[in-house]
Formats: sequence, C-alpha cells, structure tokens
Amino acid sequence: MAVTGIVLIIFVVGHLVGNLQIFEHPDRINGYSYFLQNLGPPLWIARTGLLACVAIHIWAATVLTIADRRARGPQAYRQNHWLKATVASRYMRWTGYVVLAFILFHLAQFTLGVPHSATFKTELPAYTMAGDYHVMGFVAVRAGTVVPDVRAMEVFAFQNRVVDLFYMVAIGLLSLHLLHGADSLFQTLGWRNESWGRGLRAIVTLACAAYFLGNLAIPGGVMAGVLTQNPPAAIAAR
Ligand code: HEM
Repeated sequence: MAVTGIVLIIFVVGHLVGNLQIFEHPDRINGYSYFLQNLGPPLWIARTGLLACVAIHIWAATVLTIADRRARGPQAYRQNHWLKATVASRYMRWTGYVVLAFILFHLAQFTLGVPHSATFKTELPAYTMAGDYHVMGFVAVRAGTVVPDVRAMEVFAFQNRVVDLFYMVAIGLLSLHLLHGADSLFQTLGWRNESWGRGLRAIVTLACAAYFLGNLAIPGGVMAGVLTQNPPAAIAAR
C-alpha cells in the first residue's frame, strides 16, 4: 500500500501543479495538455503504471480489511470505542470509494469528453498557440500549432454547479484520505516517533490543506468569475 500510495501522491500533486497553469496565459494549460497527449509510448507506460498502482492499492486495502475482520472474529464489537483513531483514519475505505467514483467520472468528463460531446458537437474547440510552450527549456509545442482548447473545456465544465459541488466534496475527501495515508506511510517508514511525530503531522496537515485549496481554486475560480471563457486582458497578456 505504501509504495503504490507514494506513486499516487506524486501523480496527484504533479497533476495539481500542471492544472494550476489554467491561471496563466491560455498557451500554458493548452500547450501542456497537448504536449502530454502527444507523448506517445511514454504516456501509455505512465497510464498503465498508474492503473496498476490503483489496482494494487485497492487489492492491498481489501486484503487488509479481510485480515482485520478475521482477526476480530465472527462477532462484531458490542461497543466501538475509538481511542486514538482520527476521523480520516476511520473513514479510509469510504473516502477511497468516493475518490474511485470521482476518478471514473473525471476520466469520462475530461479524458473521454463524454458530457462535452453533446455541447461541443464533435470535438473540443480549437486553440491556436500564440507563443511556444517550453518544457525544461525545450520547445515542446510551437507557436501557431492548433491544439484542443482544454482551458475552454474546463471553464465550461465548472460552470455547472452540480459538477462544482461533486468536485469540492470528492477533493475534500481525497485530501482526508491523503492525510491519513501520509500518516500511515510515515508509520510504515518508522518516522512517527516521539521526537518527529508532532512536527511531521503538522507538515502533512498543512500540505493536505494546501492540496485541497489548490484544487478548489479551479472550480472556485470559475464560480467566482476569475476564470472565464475569454481570459481577461491581464491574463491573456502574460
Ligand atoms: C480541480 C481539479 C482537477 C482538474 C481541473 C483536472 C483536470 C484534468 C484534465 C483537464 C484532464 C485531461 C487532460 C487532457 O486530456 O489533456 C485530467 C485527466 C486526469 N485527471 Fe484530473 N483534474 C483535477 C483533479 C484530479 C484528481 C484529484 C485526480 C485523482 C484523484 C485526477 C486524476 C486524473 C487522471 C487519472 C487523468 C487522466 C490522465 C490521462 O489522460 O492519462 N484529476 N484532469
């Protein structure tokens, strides 16, 4: 669980950093998405690796839950008295289910474009790159390249308040899941000792809160009118 958890944490944090480019010039998020989508075999290797991590993570959770139930025996506890368990740790399985449902919805929405196909007719609107998009100093997408307008797709998606609400709840639960996940990870690594324990918990809590707020900024930005279909001149000039 720990190894797959680390890979998944790296993915979600990297994904958030990439997504926050939506607050920059539209070239950034659209160039970034076009670059990733056209990586070819490395993209499929990464996707397969991610999928394998999700599957192993769920399998390990299931095995642990079964072992836990067996250890408890056929009779349920008469009284559940939580001694030191946090809310995040008690609801790991349920937050995990919601995150899984969210990922399936999210893939249908943004990777497969299922709900958009009716609105954008056949394909996403096209966007012509105003400048070059660079990755590690190299030109990854040239100015003038016509790419799918992922920015428009996101702004359109988050104009739906039900979608916004679902994202906020799911990302909130994902952040709680990460909070306890990171705690357990440090326990596994033996870092949750007397001298480190408190400081580590404070850092993890801050990091999870930052993760939650960072993700919230995107649907929140659309709801607040900061992210619009036509970016304000200040953003477009960046
Ligand atoms: C507000 C938050 C989020 C936004 C705006 C967002 C946006 C996107 C977009 C636009 C894509 C499609 C990329 C493309 O086709 O170019 C995508 C793909 C994806 N997202 Fe998110 N995402 C968010 C949160 C999350 C979270 C929390 C997770 C995981 C729990 C996640 C997991 C994925 C996965 C697995 C893919 C598929 C990547 C691939 O195509 O291989 N996303 N996301």
